[in-house]
Amino acid sequence: MNYGYFDETNKEYVITRPDTPAPWANYLGSPEYGAIISNNAGGYSFVKSGANGRITRYIFNSEDKPGRYIYLRDNDNGDYWSASWQPVGKDLAVYKNECHHGTAYTNIKAEYKDIETEALYYVPLNKTYEVWRLKVTNSSDKVRNISTFGFIEFTNENNYENDQVNLQYTLFITRTYFKENKILQTINENTGKNADGTNFRERFFGCVGAPVVSYNGDKDSFLGRYRSYGNPKAVEEGKCDNVLNYNSNGCGALHSVLELQPGETKEIVYVLGQYNDEQSSEILDSYSDLSIVEKELAQLKGYWHGKLGNLQINTPSKEFNSMINTWNAYQCFITFIWSRAASFIYCGLRNGYGYRDTVQDIQGIIHLDPDMAAEKIRFMLSAQVDNGGGLPLVKFNHNAGKEDTPDDMSYVQATGHPAYRADDALWLFPTILKYIAETGNKAFLDEVVLYANGGEGSVYDHLQRAIRFSMERMGDHNMPAGLHADWNDCLRLGKKGESTFVALQLYYAMTILRGFAEVKGDAEYIGYLNKVQEELGNTIQTICWEGDRYIRGIKEDGQVIGSKKDPEANMWLNPQSWAVISGLATKEQAETALESVHRELNTPYGVRVMAPSYVDHAFDGALAILFNPSTKENGGIFSQPQGWIILAEALMGHGNRAFEYFMESSPAAQNDNADTRILEPYVHGQFTEATESPFEGRSHVHWLTGTASTVMVGCVEGILGMRPDADGLLVAPSIPSDWKEMTINKKFRGKDLQILVKNPDGAQSGCKEFYINGEKLDRNYIPANKLKDNNEVVLIM
Ligand code: GLC
Repeated sequence: MNYGYFDETNKEYVITRPDTPAPWANYLGSPEYGAIISNNAGGYSFVKSGANGRITRYIFNSEDKPGRYIYLRDNDNGDYWSASWQPVGKDLAVYKNECHHGTAYTNIKAEYKDIETEALYYVPLNKTYEVWRLKVTNSSDKVRNISTFGFIEFTNENNYENDQVNLQYTLFITRTYFKENKILQTINENTGKNADGTNFRERFFGCVGAPVVSYNGDKDSFLGRYRSYGNPKAVEEGKCDNVLNYNSNGCGALHSVLELQPGETKEIVYVLGQYNDEQSSEILDSYSDLSIVEKELAQLKGYWHGKLGNLQINTPSKEFNSMINTWNAYQCFITFIWSRAASFIYCGLRNGYGYRDTVQDIQGIIHLDPDMAAEKIRFMLSAQVDNGGGLPLVKFNHNAGKEDTPDDMSYVQATGHPAYRADDALWLFPTILKYIAETGNKAFLDEVVLYANGGEGSVYDHLQRAIRFSMERMGDHNMPAGLHADWNDCLRLGKKGESTFVALQLYYAMTILRGFAEVKGDAEYIGYLNKVQEELGNTIQTICWEGDRYIRGIKEDGQVIGSKKDPEANMWLNPQSWAVISGLATKEQAETALESVHRELNTPYGVRVMAPSYVDHAFDGALAILFNPSTKENGGIFSQPQGWIILAEALMGHGNRAFEYFMESSPAAQNDNADTRILEPYVHGQFTEATESPFEGRSHVHWLTGTASTVMVGCVEGILGMRPDADGLLVAPSIPSDWKEMTINKKFRGKDLQILVKNPDGAQSGCKEFYINGEKLDRNYIPANKLKDNNEVVLIM
């Protein structure tokens, strides 16, 4: 069963049935002014922080209510409905609804009894308020009298927890006022003004395009006693009672009346934001020419489609195309920008960037916007401590050079992170490598960046210190210590326990840094790296390889984790994929380990992070046991590692297997299986429940997940084989053998590449012939100096 389809041309996902298995969401704006909206207009808005800057109310973990509601009422017969299916929820046999989620806008179209509506929601580019544009069309052949009610439920406090629980306080601090075309809400009104004279805790909900004939600033007056969003008294009666809140919950409700001739369309623009009386009037006035909405929408699309346009592909798989061209790419930007700040699952409480999360998120957008990536890389480098480790949590108000570290109680108290993690700074290596490879900007290595706690150094110096951080924290077997955790938050190997994953990351980091040391002509450091890398490689091979798999690590007390002898969790995914990605595994080991993964961890919905789940034999420190079997880190199909296993298979030239893993875990490929997957078919979630769950195939934790970037990298670098280095571009696709042809349009260092891949013999990888602009090259590598403004590239596999 499906609930919608991908509209590739408009870069939209169109939901044709509103009764989706979960609220299917979209992101509007940015964390400066952020709005999350579901296909039923549920969701919330905030300024700067989902937890501390909340301006509208949303009840988490419940019924996707309330939201940005626009009610309509036929004044001739009293029948009413809403522009989104919910909250009124008319019978779908007579009420038609289509939600178009696009790039930073959502347009909900409805049709009921010959009245057509469109409710377009967006945050204009670089603005910090939101716009709802309602279009109402009379498609009947008689005059219609329609009432419209725009409604938003304000929080009583910017801190959403206070708003929900500290009622003895928050119920008594707000008031609303009605002014001509808006409801203005004040908080702690008596406390005076900001230095610039504004009262920053004023919010407004206003409208342009039709006069307001009645209003409410008091939620209960609008809804009526013992009623809810689905049947507000004001809408039922066709009139608000003009009551404003005082010691009760506030809202903004604006009622207008439209008389529509047959075929006529009228528009109303609603605007919501956190601005005072004067500012909000200016904002509302700027919409007096309603056509500005179309301009702003075009601007938004131009901005986003421009970014996504830097890589556009056409392959035989429509699922692959939709994800790479639009949705995975868009999700990469959303996770990059929003981190884990706010969704329907993240309630806004995270007050910063997770070090590893953000450094990984950056990888997803490097091929689409390397400058945006570079800025964030600098920022994350400035959150590296001078001992080389990363701050586990980088506060949103991070003050480079002046921060405390996990060695200080103050940091621990402020962030809740008690200690360094073993992997954080090691993510910098692949991220910086990808940035330099995409841009050719080797000078980046010499840029000077502050350390979090003071001092500064070149990027090259930052990376050397990251290596030193690991080298100075070795366990008994000379592998990097597990510290508080590695990538897997649930793995407490003990401070001196040792992690195979981190060891492989360190091994790979050394390869990358050796490349940079060569650029810098740093022979002495190269000598050092050669020596320690060889030792580390030997150690991993001796201690971690069990003949058909790499173990997951060794606990502080010597217990081996992830050995095939273990009754549970005897096979782990990441050490296998990373043995390949890091370049450590021999070809034979790689083939064997990847086969073991397929045999023991693969499911119809992707590859499990480990198996069997912990139930009876968890080691002390295996926090995964807290979760139900086949869930999250406890044997679930953790989505982020799918990208790594896709990449590993692709690097081995296994196009069929790489694509098999893509399809199993791809949201788009589950479009017709929506009642099983539950989550939006256009976004990755954090994990999917595996075999031991009664709900195998159900996915969770939408949108804000590192999966976006790892799968993107697995597909772009792996399957599509776009593998740049500082001097050029290797074109090495690993595709299913039944793909006969594909095209890749890629922007690379300001130049356009049209790459045509032909696969007449059904290969999975490899190159027979390679041409650029008609010239035959001896291998599938384009030296950067051969690039013209426009380039035709042909690869025959
Ligand atoms: C979550 C965390 C991420 C961690 C992963 C695995 O996605 O955000 O930091 O690496 O879980 O535990």
